[in-house]
Amino acid sequence: MNQAQQKQDAAEAAADYVATHLEPGAILGVGTGSTVNFFIDALAPLKEQLGGAVASSEATRQRLAALDIPIVDLNDVGRLAIYVDGADEIDPGFAMIKGGGGALTREKIIAAASDVFVCIADAGKRVDQLGRFPLPVEVIPMARRLVAGQLAALGGEPVLREGFVTDNGHCILDVAGLVIHKPRALEIIINQITGVVCSGLFALRGADVLLLGTEDGVITCLPFGALP
Ligand code: A5P
Repeated sequence: MNQAQQKQDAAEAAADYVATHLEPGAILGVGTGSTVNFFIDALAPLKEQLGGAVASSEATRQRLAALDIPIVDLNDVGRLAIYVDGADEIDPGFAMIKGGGGALTREKIIAAASDVFVCIADAGKRVDQLGRFPLPVEVIPMARRLVAGQLAALGGEPVLREGFVTDNGHCILDVAGLVIHKPRALEIIINQITGVVCSGLFALRGADVLLLGTEDGVITCLPFGALP
């Protein structure tokens, strides 16, 4: 089964999860990326059940709006029961690298405001240790060089994502070569670099449930292999 089919299977399993677990009329958090695009498509039959959605990017906002799902400002909701999003890598404790699509800051905000983070991914995203995928770091443009120097001092090789501006008006450094033994500790260190808006390490607030599309269908996983 190819990667796109695994993403679609995971996305459809997430729509089932939402149908079962989200109170009618509640607001759903929706992430960004190709897996989430499948998820948004799978939300179509559920849209009468949703009170609306908080979108993690302009791309997601437009796709939800095309389905006539009301877009809600997070400030008008406070907390969300469920957030569904993809990942670039996810480890056994459900720490993740995110931001391949550049929406990491809004994704991290919605994750922080949500009770349950449901990660949807194809089997290739599941790794034993984070770091093969270059870590995206959103940076205030005037601090790009300053931050790149600090990230290099941590052992990374930061590369500016050329021609890309985030929805928040910032740039992204993609940092290869980081050995991420302790994702929570590294997230705290990168958060403290002046000029960093947000890193794509989602370890302090990782996922709660993983719906993993595999060759053999979708597997529901909990952190560290706990049984669902
Ligand atoms: C968006 O900024 C990212 O965090 C995505 O969630 C992540 O890159 C996964 O994307 P795909 O579903 O396209 O693989």
